[in-house]
Amino acid sequence: MSTKYKGAKPSRRAFLKGAAMAGAGATVAAQAKAASDPAIAVQPWMQELGDGVDVAPYGMPSEYESHVKRRSVEWLTADPISSINFTPLHELDGIITPNGLAFERHHGGAAHIDPAQHRLMINGLVDKQLVFTMEDIMRFPRENHVYFLECAANSGMEWRGAQLNGCQFTHGMIHNVMYTGVPLRLLLEEAGVKTNGKWLLPEGADASAMTRSIPMEKALDDCLVAFKMNGEALRVEQGYPLRLVVPGWEGNMWVKWLRRIEVGDQPWHHREETSKYTDLLADGKARRFTWEMDAKSVITNPSPQAPLTHGKGHTVLTGVAWSGRGTIPRVDVTLDGGKNWHQARMSGPSLNKSMHRFYFEFDWDGSPLLLQSRAHDSTGYVQPTKDELRAVRGENSIYHNNGIQTWYVNEQGIAENVEVS
Ligand code: MTE
Ligand code: CO
Repeated sequence: MSTKYKGAKPSRRAFLKGAAMAGAGATVAAQAKAASDPAIAVQPWMQELGDGVDVAPYGMPSEYESHVKRRSVEWLTADPISSINFTPLHELDGIITPNGLAFERHHGGAAHIDPAQHRLMINGLVDKQLVFTMEDIMRFPRENHVYFLECAANSGMEWRGAQLNGCQFTHGMIHNVMYTGVPLRLLLEEAGVKTNGKWLLPEGADASAMTRSIPMEKALDDCLVAFKMNGEALRVEQGYPLRLVVPGWEGNMWVKWLRRIEVGDQPWHHREETSKYTDLLADGKARRFTWEMDAKSVITNPSPQAPLTHGKGHTVLTGVAWSGRGTIPRVDVTLDGGKNWHQARMSGPSLNKSMHRFYFEFDWDGSPLLLQSRAHDSTGYVQPTKDELRAVRGENSIYHNNGIQTWYVNEQGIAENVEVS
């Protein structure tokens, strides 16, 4: 491992690891000083039998992982029934968000629905109004796709300057899971859309009765009516038993606890697409129907919740990138606030409208760092700086902040949310 990094002096720890990996266990043992050294100690868990298979019928993470959890921002939470619990991005790797850690956002609390009592109605401008049971839906051909869901308000608290200390809070209104569901197109074909049917209004069965207008082209293109995430039933928080999946588009449109889809000839201009989810520009006009999520990225490690604790030497920087318009063929990383950029190493599946994982291994010399990442998407679009974004959008926005994030890392390895201009 150490030979990969030129000019670096491997620490004793790195040497031990290297030796162990090369199969030189005896060398390691010879170097261990005391019987309490974990390398040779006979630990309590080696001296007694472990748990039986009946202890965890539904498996949970190790008790040593209890810090890996969703968190909310206190001042954002007037009431937990209309709030956000953020994904701990700095604790995750790869591209899939585990179901128990997927951020949750409810406008009227999470509804607990008995699937046997759940129905999906399609009405409005259709040849025949239909009502599906869950069993009916599962008899249609289904598909599997990995997609990110990002709330349009992700990073919204950062419009006027650096504020929240942690990528969980600045960027954690996102999750990326594999959905199993029926293409919405197939359900609409079953109902028969009339020629003037150009818009859809999906509605949730929760107390907020969330509704959004969706153009027919999108519905026929890639929307799914999903019932599984990462192979198992949707979690209650994610809309059990049924949710709409609107790939690449703002999270608010992904109606959870989906109970009805009305077909109409024009958009409805409901609350969530007028007073909310529109962006006020500097001239007092507001942007409407900003559906697509632009390319964005963030370094998850190091970051304020994940400082560099090992001191100088080899380190692995990592982060995630995504675009509502396609894939991410490239991410650049800078250690000095944008003076020099380096191409990061992408690893893991590169799927359309899904999260991508990048790494950048380097030798830290112990001096302060200004870390940034910059995503390029498959359309050629490049993630802008925050100043570039403000020049176009002004400072009144909340939604669609995809500006480049900066973390300042000091000599002690402590990281902080800052802005450079
Ligand atoms: N659907 C219903 N029925 N009720 C809601 O409150 N919140 C929306 C959307 N769909 C919401 C909803 C918002 S704003 C977002 S960002 C996503 O669901 C969040 O999905 P999640 O809870 O799976 O993260
Ligand atoms: Co949202």
